[in-house]
Amino acid sequence: MKILVVYSSLTGNTEKVCRAAAEALPGCHIFSVDAAPPPHEYDLVIVGYWVDKGMPDKKAANYLRTVAQTPVALVGTLGAWPDSDHARECMTKGEALLEGRGNRVLGTFLCQGKVDPRVVEMMQKMAGSAHPMTEERKARLAEAAKHPDETDCENARAFVRGVRAQLAG
Ligand SMILES: Cc1cc2nc3c(=O)[nH]c(=O)nc-3n(C[C@H](O)[C@H](O)[C@H](O)COP(=O)(O)O)c2cc1C
Repeated sequence: MKILVVYSSLTGNTEKVCRAAAEALPGCHIFSVDAAPPPHEYDLVIVGYWVDKGMPDKKAANYLRTVAQTPVALVGTLGAWPDSDHARECMTKGEALLEGRGNRVLGTFLCQGKVDPRVVEMMQKMAGSAHPMTEERKARLAEAAKHPDETDCENARAFVRGVRAQLAG
């Protein structure tokens, strides 16, 4: 089975999780989205993205739009809680980018990733506006700062093993 892992990563979180996932898929090919081959030569494509303002980041989104007639799995990192409505909406938006071209979405995985301190600073300056720096937000960012950790990496490995098993079976 030819498996491709493509990651888009600004600050390294998504790359870390995707590299961990790739360890569980011996023989797979892994590329940054900037150098990724076309998806159609593969039996399974796993695309890693980071969440940018509620959406899969632009580079990953553009790559997802090129995927057709292919089994796909999505791996995302974000600052929000992975079980939040916001996270679910981000995942749904990722899946929507694959619709209408005969793709088969085999699964989605999300974990937290530390948020660039410059972005946090920007949010703090905006305090009092749409994104006030509440205690809840502070706690969430402090938790995100610890991720992706080894548990996230292990969960990502288990996730892709499960995805591959779906295809093999
Ligand atoms: C410009 C920008 C916008 C972001 N927007 C969101 C967002 O809407 N929701 C969220 O949960 N996290 C958001 N984040 C946090 C990132 O998704 C998170 O830190 C991610 O793990 C970064 O992945 P990377 O290290 O692979 O680039 C944003 C980060 C940046 C830099």
